Amino acid sequence: MKTVYEGILEMLTFFLSLLLPGASLAAVDSFYPPLNHTTYITNASLGTYGGVFHAPSDKASPTGDSVYNYCTMPHPHVDTYSLPAPVRNGSVDAKLVYLEYVQRHQRRTPYNILPGGENQEYNCDTIHPHLFASPSSGSPAPAQVYGQAYTDPSNPFLYLSNYVNGTCQYPQLTIGGYLDGVQHGRDLHELYSKKLNLIPSTLTQATKDKVWFRSSSAALTQGSAGAVLRGLWPTYTGPLPLHQQPASIDSINRGFSCPKRDTLLDRIQSTTEWDEHIAVTEPLRTKLADMFNASSDAAWMDTWDHFADNFQGRLCNGYELPCSLHDTSACVSDSQAEEVFRAGDWMYNYWWRKNPDVREYIQVIEGLFISELVRKFEAVQKGETGVVYSHTFAHDGDIAPLLGAMGIRALRWPGMGSNVAFEVWETSTHEFFARVLYSGRTIETVHGVLEWIPLGRLIEILSVFVPDDIVALCNS
Ligand SMILES: *[C@@H]1O[C@H](CO)[C@@H](O)[C@H](O)[C@H]1NC(C)=O
Ligand SMILES: *[C@@H]1O[C@H](CO)[C@@H](O)[C@H](O)[C@H]1NC(C)=O
Ligand SMILES: *[C@@H]1O[C@H](CO)[C@@H](O)[C@H](O)[C@H]1NC(C)=O
Ligand SMILES: *[C@@H]1O[C@H](CO)[C@@H](O)[C@H](O)[C@H]1NC(C)=O
Ligand SMILES: *[C@@H]1O[C@H](CO)[C@@H](O)[C@H](O)[C@H]1NC(C)=O
Repeated sequence: MKTVYEGILEMLTFFLSLLLPGASLAAVDSFYPPLNHTTYITNASLGTYGGVFHAPSDKASPTGDSVYNYCTMPHPHVDTYSLPAPVRNGSVDAKLVYLEYVQRHQRRTPYNILPGGENQEYNCDTIHPHLFASPSSGSPAPAQVYGQAYTDPSNPFLYLSNYVNGTCQYPQLTIGGYLDGVQHGRDLHELYSKKLNLIPSTLTQATKDKVWFRSSSAALTQGSAGAVLRGLWPTYTGPLPLHQQPASIDSINRGFSCPKRDTLLDRIQSTTEWDEHIAVTEPLRTKLADMFNASSDAAWMDTWDHFADNFQGRLCNGYELPCSLHDTSACVSDSQAEEVFRAGDWMYNYWWRKNPDVREYIQVIEGLFISELVRKFEAVQKGETGVVYSHTFAHDGDIAPLLGAMGIRALRWPGMGSNVAFEVWETSTHEFFARVLYSGRTIETVHGVLEWIPLGRLIEILSVFVPDDIVALCNS
């Protein structure tokens, strides 16, 4: 049922679309832009291509919609979820038996502080990143210390480059990100515990063996896990294991060392298409470099990663776009930021979908993790696992190659909390099927819409990205 308000809004949108051609973008599918050409970057009328790039500082973001939202990507939600088509229409009798869930951490402060300094401080006083170690016996229990970041005015490095003032680390989970995480977990509980009866609705000695959690060694992913798992099990008290591989050989977050990654990336970033995207964004890059003293800093000039990260970090936590410190009247405009974000989307699509070396590049970055996923699916198929729900808290650099491996039709930069849900269904005749959701919607890929495919087929699709010998490949 449409409310009166929605009716009026729809009418307004319609009249607006007659006046402003760009407004008709309200009707585009914000998940699948035409990222295959650099006109996507330069065509200012595309704006955010239906995406959202802002979020409140001290509250959870609204959830339940299914628009690309960089700050809080949608996730599976009872209001938007539907059963796989053949289960829905009754042509197949099947039950959800396993969920493999991989997500990026929730929103955070930026990694990259502008080389010319920041014209605002970041405030993280409303969140306490706890860091304490406890004996496994629980006793003596530690004092509950947390990291309280601050800047000391006597530290000369604070002034050397106008480093950012405030009470945050860069990056760190923000209070908005934490609250989004709790909501993310609540929504998973509503869907996968209450409606679909898969995830244990309470954690007890008996049900704990059915769940398995993992994160990278970054504080960001651990903090996100604490939030999401609280949403899933609001009354659970006591410790929970969050599995982590040793940081320097981790199969996520580029843990293990692999020289081939650099060789491939150099090649990927010297093609004609790559150069074209650099050329068409030259005027914007020069303007921003002047405003923020970035011209001699290759990390800021070679890709759009750092500017995008800096602007996203601000907008996703209730701050404004930055102004130059040496010319305070020069501020980043919305349309400049939108071009940076479109360039970021183009770049992700190029890195993980379109470049000629994409298969090997995905193999060296994510192949080991993908092989771990394949082994888990095989264990489900053979009835060799008691786990029904596995959840990994990772990074955009993990989600993107995973989506690339599935051949996603177009890949925008996977935003905060972006997630892939691999659902495994077992039919009454004991056949296994998979349905794959990306941020709550069935993923559209070069292999078709992954709404209902034999689990063996999913394994085949992914196995192309599992290297025969990762050590040899890395050193080749
Ligand atoms: C780019 O993608 C659009 C839609 O996604 C498609 O219509 C068009 O043919 C593609 N162009 C090229 C050159 O692949
Ligand atoms: C820019 O995008 C608009 C809206 O989709 C489209 O109508 C127009 O043809 C595009 N212009 C160019 C030069 O691609
Ligand atoms: C049910 O949906 C599936 C997938 O969309 C379709 O192939 C099948 O024909 C449908 N069956 C019935 C009985 O409607
Ligand atoms: C940034 O550049 C401006 C103008 O070139 C200069 O005045 C200022 O000192 C520079 N700031 C930093 C932090 O290097
Ligand atoms: C940061 O704090 C110092 C010391 O209080 C002050 O001089 C400086 O102007 C502040 N910088 C910003 C960007 O607020």
